[in-house]
Amino acid sequence: MPKTLIAGNWKLQKTQAEAKEFLAEFLPALENTPSDRHVLLCPTFTSLAAVAQNLPGSRVRLGAQNIHWEDSGAYTGEVSGPMLVELCVSYAIVGHSERRQYFGETDETVNWRLKAAQRHQITPILCVGETKAQRDAGQTEAVVSAQLERALAGIEPQNLVVAYEPIWAIGTGDTCEAAEANRVIGLIRAQLPDQDVTIQYGGSVKPSNVDEIMAQPEINGALVGGASLAPQDFARLVNYQ
Ligand code: 13P
Repeated sequence: MPKTLIAGNWKLQKTQAEAKEFLAEFLPALENTPSDRHVLLCPTFTSLAAVAQNLPGSRVRLGAQNIHWEDSGAYTGEVSGPMLVELCVSYAIVGHSERRQYFGETDETVNWRLKAAQRHQITPILCVGETKAQRDAGQTEAVVSAQLERALAGIEPQNLVVAYEPIWAIGTGDTCEAAEANRVIGLIRAQLPDQDVTIQYGGSVKPSNVDEIMAQPEINGALVGGASLAPQDFARLVNYQ
């Protein structure tokens, strides 16, 4: 059975002080969360240590928003696996559409980053998804399938999470219909060698739609941007009905 994983991607938001304030309100709201739900927070690199220090004994895991393919070297502005492991990071988002769009991430660099994460026993969360123009042109399946194939070349099939994030649904309030997200995620699963890989949906997940999304049989979790920033909203997502 794929495990259920609800993850917050804070993107370029929250200082260390703001992260601590979030935790003070968020953690008590998890008291009655079913134990089979895995909860993950992915703060900025600068807040990882502060969040790690405030999580001991908590069920919340810590994730990074990226990981470099080398362990060290002349790569200004990057952060590597050993640096993340030292901060108790156990997941890393790889290939988010914002990295692909604004920072030149390609399927090839995504593949290198996935391998680096697995080498350090960090579970990569591989993000895939189509643009609005690609969807309107009927290319959703082909785009997602090609992203998966190139990203996953030479990757261990097990230590992996995939997030289907249609780009037109990110930060727009325009959620992909739950049944359509379920359909695309079913196609993604059919392309994976391991049927137990957790596949998340991401794109405008919020308290008003999380229950319907999580009721879909192929969807094993959510990767959440905006609605993960407010402690009560994110707690509502984790405690979906
Ligand atoms: P929103 O939830 O703000 O649409 O962002 C989704 C996302 O990009 C998560 O990685």
